[in-house]
Amino acid sequence: MTKLIPRITEQEIQARIAEMGRQIALDYKDKDLVIIGILKGSFIFLADLIRQIPIDHDVDFMGASSYEGQESTGQIVFTKQPDLALKNRDVLLVEDIVDTGRTLMKITEFITLLNPRSLKLCALINKQERRQMHIDVSYSGFFLNDGFIVGYGLDYNEKYRNLPAIYDLKI
Ligand code: IMP
Ligand code: MG
Repeated sequence: MTKLIPRITEQEIQARIAEMGRQIALDYKDKDLVIIGILKGSFIFLADLIRQIPIDHDVDFMGASSYEGQESTGQIVFTKQPDLALKNRDVLLVEDIVDTGRTLMKITEFITLLNPRSLKLCALINKQERRQMHIDVSYSGFFLNDGFIVGYGLDYNEKYRNLPAIYDLKI
């Protein structure tokens, strides 16, 4: 039977996002910020995060997909490219969760070709110990080492994105 075990509460998520938003606003106050959410997992995090960033910025999306079930297929497919021109702008990529780092590595390589002035990464969840690629995540909400988590945008085969908090999924 599938079990959902509470891992991070709604209150903990919102408090951490407020801190992250404050830090991002400070760091980008004199910059030309474009925030790019990586679909689909980041859409709820992005919606809450940008409302905690009280400086002007643009929002765009990129789509990437690699997971089926609880394992990455290793193949990253871009399902959407950004609409805005990113040349000479300060791009912040927003991900739900960084695991092996393969997805963000591929996306970073792609965005770099568009010649932004700067490029930084932000993730709600950082599974740092599972990293296989060297990537530098400038803003991490929470560090987790184990488990497959769902809720708050994170899915298992497209389900559970609607849960307001984050849960360990046990199958
Ligand atoms: P990476 O390429 O291995 O870093 O995987 C990153 C992507 O895998 C994330 O954007 C998620 O979509 C998905 N993912 C990794 N770990 C989890 C998890 O624990 N729950 C749900 N999705 C996950
Ligand atoms: Mg994702």
